Amino acid sequence: MYKIAVIPGDGIGKEVMEATLHILEASKIDFEYTFAEAGDEYAEKTGIPLPEETLNIVKNSQACLFGAAGETAADVIVKLRRELDLYVNLRPVKSYPGTKCLFDDLDFVIVRENTEGLYSGLEEYTEEGATATRVITHKASERICRFAFEYAEKTSRNKVTAVHKANVLKKTDGIFRDNFYKVAKDFDDMETDDRYVDATAMFFLTKPHMFDVIVTTNLFGDILSDEGAGLVGGLGLIPSANIGENNGLFEPVHGSAPLLAGKGIANPSAMILSAVLMLEYLDEYDEARKLEKALLTVLKEGNVVTNDLGGNSSTMEMAAEVRAKFEE
Ligand code: NAI
Ligand code: MG
Repeated sequence: MYKIAVIPGDGIGKEVMEATLHILEASKIDFEYTFAEAGDEYAEKTGIPLPEETLNIVKNSQACLFGAAGETAADVIVKLRRELDLYVNLRPVKSYPGTKCLFDDLDFVIVRENTEGLYSGLEEYTEEGATATRVITHKASERICRFAFEYAEKTSRNKVTAVHKANVLKKTDGIFRDNFYKVAKDFDDMETDDRYVDATAMFFLTKPHMFDVIVTTNLFGDILSDEGAGLVGGLGLIPSANIGENNGLFEPVHGSAPLLAGKGIANPSAMILSAVLMLEYLDEYDEARKLEKALLTVLKEGNVVTNDLGGNSSTMEMAAEVRAKFEE
């Protein structure tokens, strides 16, 4: 029995969450859900986007499923990441059948450091303009690299690549690269290499099959993650995990999509795949693969899929179809 916090949030967040919980109901694993509020709608009622109570519910759960917030997303999701010290942002780049991909056989993962780097918020005006401070610590570099190697090992991957720009950012990225190779010594069987971020951006387009697990700093990871999303086709399909020492938060990359909300036609795939990442985080690998395979089959068959995937099924019709395959 796992204790899971559920924050549906706003707009299509609520719809894709309902769809995903409907599928998880068919799992042999027991989840105890605690529902919590956050987002625009809650803020309209109370003036607060993320109440203390929600924060506590998440802190006291093993994992959190998060739908999407609207305009208050920064106040909600950024605050959750910070309060829970969710230092890992994990984004798979995986091609799924029946979707418009630049490559139809990609399968790699980007592990982004999520607490420091150029996003430390240390900006200041100067006489000439402004400066931003890029914070890189040994501690954060080591723990993100260690996470990447452990994740690679647990998910049976073969190679970890550090992405940086240590030729120009000699001190900050020098520390990042040094910690990468220091951690690598504890993982003898894992192949390792490191690449510059600019070259990596190009290889995403020319030779993306060379990648297996990428580990990188905050800004580079942000940019490469979205480039990765572009490789495998569309926001409706991209999940993400935010992971800390005690907690994990799993959410689709898309937002509340106000124009789509209320119609019941949002693609639930990204939320379902976020649940797959949650199952991996809980070390339930067999169940994770089973759920992913169920979705994959529905995408491949293409008969019961949402509008953005070229079908005309509703969110819940697609969810029911995935659940049926999951139960097989
Ligand atoms: P969005 O991701 O909500 O939607 C952009 C467009 O992508 C939609 O109009 C739709 O055409 C498509 N799309 C997204 N998800 C889809 C799905 N599941 N199925 C089918 N089509 C899908 O991004 P947008 O429009 O920039 O932001 C809308 C609101 O969401 C804003 O208030 C923003 O602040 C918030 N947001 C929240 C996030 C979060 O909670 N983590 C992340 C991104 C945006
Ligand atoms: Mg981004």
